[in-house]
Amino acid sequence: IFLKPKMLFFVTEKNVDPETMLLPYLRKKLRLTGTKYGCGGGGCGACTVMISRYNPITKRIRHHPANACLIPICSLYGAAVTTVEGIGSTHTRIHPVQERIAKCHGTQCGFCTPGMVMSIYTLLRNHPEPTLDQLTDALGGNLCRCTGYRPIIDACKTFCKTSGCCQSKENGICCLDQGINELPEFEEGSETSPKLFTEEEFLPLDPTQELIFPPELMIMAEKQPQRTRMFGGERMAWFSPVTLKELLELKFKYPQAPVVMGNTSVGPEVKFKGVFHPVIISPDRIEELSVVIHASNGLTLGAGLSLAQVKDILADVVQKLPEEKTQMYQALMKHLRTLAGSQIRNMASLGGHIISRHPDSDLNPLLAVGNCTLNLLSKEGKRQIPLSEHFLSKCPNADIKPQEILISVNIPYSRKWEFVSAFRQAQRQENALAIVNSGMRVFFGEEDGIIRELSISYGGIGPTTICAKNSCQKVIGRHWNEEMLDTACRLVLDEVSLPGSAPGGKVEFKRTLIISFLFKFYLEVSQILKKMNSVHYPRLADKYASALEDLHSRHHCSTLKYQKIGPKQHPEDPVGHPIMHLSGVKHATGEAIYCDDMPLVDQELFLTFVTSSRAHAKIVSIDLSEALSMPGVVDIMTAEHLSDVNSFCFFTETETFLATDKVFCVGHLVCAVLADSEVQAKRAAKRVKIIYQDLEPLILTIEEAIQHNSFFKPERKLEYGNVDEAFKVVDHILEGEIHMGGQEHFYMETQSMLVVPKGEDQEMDVYVSTQFPKYIQDIVASTLKLPANKVMCHVRRVGGAFGGKVFKTGTIAAVTAFAANKHGRAVRCVLERGEDMLITGGRHPYLGKYKAGFMNDGRILALDMEHYSNAGASLDESLLVIEMGILKMDNAYKFPNLRCQAWACRTNLPSNTAFRGFGFPQAGLITESCITEVAAKCGLSPEKVRMINMYKEIDQTPYKQEINAKNLAQCWRECMAMSSYSQRKVVVEKFNVENYWKKKGLAMVPLKFPVGLGSRAAGQATALVHIYLDGSVLVTHGGIEMGQGVHTKMIQVRILRWEDCLSPGGRGCSEPIVPPNSSLDGRNACQTLLKRLEPIISKNPKGTWKDWAQTAFNESISLSAVGYFRGYESDMNWEKGEGHPFEYFVYGAACSEVEIDCLTGDHKTIRTDIVMDVGCSINPALDIGQIEGAFIQGMGLYTIEELNYSPQGVLHTRGPDQYKIPAICDMPTQLHISLLPPSQNSNTLYSSKGLGESGVFLGCSVFFAIHDAVSAARRERGLRGPLRLNSPLTPEKIRMACEDKFTKMIPRDEPGSYVPWNVPI
Ligand SMILES: Cc1cc2nc3c(=O)[nH]c(=O)nc-3n(C[C@H](O)[C@H](O)[C@H](O)COP(=O)(O)OP(=O)(O)OC[C@H]3O[C@@H](n4cnc5c(N)ncnc54)[C@H](O)[C@@H]3O)c2cc1C
Ligand code: FES
Ligand code: FES
Repeated sequence: IFLKPKMLFFVTEKNVDPETMLLPYLRKKLRLTGTKYGCGGGGCGACTVMISRYNPITKRIRHHPANACLIPICSLYGAAVTTVEGIGSTHTRIHPVQERIAKCHGTQCGFCTPGMVMSIYTLLRNHPEPTLDQLTDALGGNLCRCTGYRPIIDACKTFCKTSGCCQSKENGICCLDQGINELPEFEEGSETSPKLFTEEEFLPLDPTQELIFPPELMIMAEKQPQRTRMFGGERMAWFSPVTLKELLELKFKYPQAPVVMGNTSVGPEVKFKGVFHPVIISPDRIEELSVVIHASNGLTLGAGLSLAQVKDILADVVQKLPEEKTQMYQALMKHLRTLAGSQIRNMASLGGHIISRHPDSDLNPLLAVGNCTLNLLSKEGKRQIPLSEHFLSKCPNADIKPQEILISVNIPYSRKWEFVSAFRQAQRQENALAIVNSGMRVFFGEEDGIIRELSISYGGIGPTTICAKNSCQKVIGRHWNEEMLDTACRLVLDEVSLPGSAPGGKVEFKRTLIISFLFKFYLEVSQILKKMNSVHYPRLADKYASALEDLHSRHHCSTLKYQKIGPKQHPEDPVGHPIMHLSGVKHATGEAIYCDDMPLVDQELFLTFVTSSRAHAKIVSIDLSEALSMPGVVDIMTAEHLSDVNSFCFFTETETFLATDKVFCVGHLVCAVLADSEVQAKRAAKRVKIIYQDLEPLILTIEEAIQHNSFFKPERKLEYGNVDEAFKVVDHILEGEIHMGGQEHFYMETQSMLVVPKGEDQEMDVYVSTQFPKYIQDIVASTLKLPANKVMCHVRRVGGAFGGKVFKTGTIAAVTAFAANKHGRAVRCVLERGEDMLITGGRHPYLGKYKAGFMNDGRILALDMEHYSNAGASLDESLLVIEMGILKMDNAYKFPNLRCQAWACRTNLPSNTAFRGFGFPQAGLITESCITEVAAKCGLSPEKVRMINMYKEIDQTPYKQEINAKNLAQCWRECMAMSSYSQRKVVVEKFNVENYWKKKGLAMVPLKFPVGLGSRAAGQATALVHIYLDGSVLVTHGGIEMGQGVHTKMIQVRILRWEDCLSPGGRGCSEPIVPPNSSLDGRNACQTLLKRLEPIISKNPKGTWKDWAQTAFNESISLSAVGYFRGYESDMNWEKGEGHPFEYFVYGAACSEVEIDCLTGDHKTIRTDIVMDVGCSINPALDIGQIEGAFIQGMGLYTIEELNYSPQGVLHTRGPDQYKIPAICDMPTQLHISLLPPSQNSNTLYSSKGLGESGVFLGCSVFFAIHDAVSAARRERGLRGPLRLNSPLTPEKIRMACEDKFTKMIPRDEPGSYVPWNVPI
């Protein structure tokens, strides 16, 4: 393997263990930590590397991206691996990709960045001037939780030839020519700002300068005699045959051994399902497996071709052959575009895909309808079998035999009057397994439209691909018309039946999709028939044609408008400039060190947890004996070991670390296994035997908690005006409720820590990825019974946190530190993604009940609200979350009479915790839903009702704090204007009249986000500034860098603006996100130092910092100072229901437009406009980054992010495969962000505002735009009455709300007649 310019490492039969994957090998063995672990299952792209192989026959080198977490090291013989370290570094020269992603602000926490860089780098190696389509394709397998992708796309676009244009020609006009970029000018001082970076500065991309393929490997490939290689490990043997004969012999000898090609199916099974293969056969460059034969009976493709290669081959064939012959190839290409990400498509083989027979395979349903043939070979000879339903269901007489190999697949050409289509619907448009997919083929034989052959297959429905064979048989001979469709739908529903308790849930949705796809196929074929013979076939009504188009657009354009630097500002003053994140380049080169990137400490141990498999149970016994006898195991600790230090109290309730006699949720920590390595610890953990006895009651849902009166104390209530009296005078009263699901933080860096005993005076170094080091220090000190000064907590950076790295991190740190102390050895604990998702909890699910009293004109005079949050098994921050929910529920509205009560429900789920927005995204959604319903009742647009109820300039909140909402109104007005709301509303309505199966929706929401930490003490901060004798300065402050750029802003305001510190009234910094530990001020430290230096500077004004520092030293003047900020005044009296809990308010507005597919529930955000009041922006690039990153996270929350729990309380969604955060395909096609002109805000330092959290709520503009679109569909279908949609608005909910003849046709199960796969919690 070739890894770095000066680092050669060759895979040989002696030096690698077949069980080792490339990712741990790179990170732990070779100490190349730029490649990151994000999920371990190919789903996130953080581990992307480039693999290059030389083919001695074609003399060509193939470069492709791959997920290092799924690449067995043995499969890399003769391949070159390029990691992020290999393409550029700050020590030599950074690569243009690294430079541009950093300078275009495409990094925040930076954890996803090396993977992004390698995906783009590989693309550029193959296409130095890629199209936008290739770009989005290349990044489809890379997730980022921070940026919202816009800046990453902007960086990539600089490599494209046509970078300026969105390439989406709506009405034939490019977006840049449509006037949408002509944003209204600010009243004063600022103007549209085209870019946040200067393209002219960028290093050019020179393909001739790239790393060459290592000649050693070329020579090896050309010269070395080829022979089977055997890699032997402790438990496993790996054979790599190089000829077909050897392969067949091995398969004969080891018939049960899998033939590993891409390892994307075998790998996850081994990793996540514990499957073990003692022997693996992995063919290497066997030509017969890569054949491409164009024959008279169709195309024959080698089983060893990667899915990416298959896609390219098909694209070529489709171009060259007449359309009627390529129906199947086009359908396959459609699915190959969205199947997984580019990395997986380049690794996975066609043969592996077919033979795996995954129930949700995208290709098998298509191949199954296409009369394809599998060419098999064994030592005994050749055989051909049809790729049929029987093969797919593994019927013994139709299956491949254990000693056989799939050599190739024949895919016949389609014939005249034959049509093939592919359909799929997934939770996310791309890189997501389908909920249901389908392949459909019809053959008429001639012009008469009589069905001669019909084949329909579905994936996602059962344990295998299912063919609706009998149904198809029954309609043969019928005409292609609506009666046939109706019969076919009923037959198929009957044949492809799905029990109510089917795994994966969404049963009614799946049933509906089965026939919705069939309807789409019917329309597609009808339209083609019409085109082919316009006389014979009736015209499809224009209205219905909309069923056929796909929503997906891969083009993106954005405009940004930010504050201009005032003319009076010093040219060298960096405040207000879009300065790159200080660590941007280090993120992009992989040099930024995260917790688990730290080298192994001598004798280090690894700690892993054994967690409860029951949601509410008594622990009857724990048997550790077998686990303790496993190799490498050092200790297993239970609650008994921790004894009197097994808990900690931060709020009112004590949190226990390891379960004592009972468990209260699945995922409850029970014991901690300590071993020499991670692998040993994990293996031993599986051998711990715990016997449970289930306890009653099992409370999972909010409704169950209400029923059992299971609440944490206290409940909270806020009352303003006289609600009961007001209800007596209003025109209407309505009551409703909305349920909102939780959210997983999905920080890209999982919980990680390393605790190192210093070996002296009991001191401990704790290296930890946390937002709240003070808490970690306290909890560790308490657990070790040490004074806090013995515990040193180090946090260099955090790979995303969003609220999830506080309390659970503390618990894990306490146990890890206990272990380190007990054994006097360093202990590392890094959670796997699945463990992290299971254990750590997330955003609170909410149930909101409302009763609104309002007038005919939409004025809401009385509002009575109840909030219930699902807090989980322990209190954590749940009380604070409901408090913030109550205090922020008014959002931008003045409700003259208001009552809001909130309860935190105690349930048997992992404890939910802080999450960006802290209760506001839930409370705000409940309020906005109520407003939407009021509007519907009044026959007004929701925007009108929003406007009429909005705060006026000077006003009072329900807790009697005064606000000045001038900027709220301005944001609203600007957003209305910038989004051309009124004109577009008309266009949307016209679209909806003209299209029956697609609907558009438009919605705008305002934002008032109060900022404050609840108490003065929580907001205090200290900074320590040292000036060194060489003139350099060190600022140490309490802010944690988790991607928001706090250090960058600090440098902008503290170091470079010394003159500011001399003249009061300049600009400064407040936290862009509000973690509990920061909000800081080093300003007075700088002032103190400057005051001391002033006499020296005035004596030698031309001197340098070095001169002044040296003089100060000589004169014994201290060059260190501490700055201290007491925190803002903050109080809230819950008894009286009044106070001043917040210091200031962030205002904003967002308008989103979506299009939905009423038949599938798919949606696409077409455009979003955001206007935000940021006070005075210290760094517009960072501020915009926070706004759009939070917006996309919010969009995910309200639309696609869905956690599923079983009725026993087991979390099903434990990785990126099951839980979908927004990917690049979810970005709005157009995104426009505008910051209000600078406004003075006397409450904050230098008038800046904290922006990290508020933007999440704006994501609900997409929710309400979908709501608008669904309402339009329902109105057209004659469905009246209130439309109540719960969050997230997934494809399932959208589809089922767009009721039609298909939703009516499906069978429904009686509630209670079956055990559902999941329960809404
Ligand atoms: C993150 C991720 C996302 C995915 N997303 C999608 C998706 O959206 N849609 C979708 O359809 N699929 C998806 N998949 C599944 C993917 O398509 C399959 O895992 C893949 O095609 C399997 O190919 P492979 O070469 O990696 O198989 P391997 O894992 O190498 O092998 C799989 C099986 O096939 C057998 N086999 C392989 N080749 C032969 C041969 N020539 N002869 C006999 N037996 C053989 C092996 O013995 C083994 O049992 C995804 C997978 C991952 C990891
Ligand atoms: S770590 Fe490999 S894809 Fe996530
Ligand atoms: S910057 Fe992408 S995950 Fe943080």
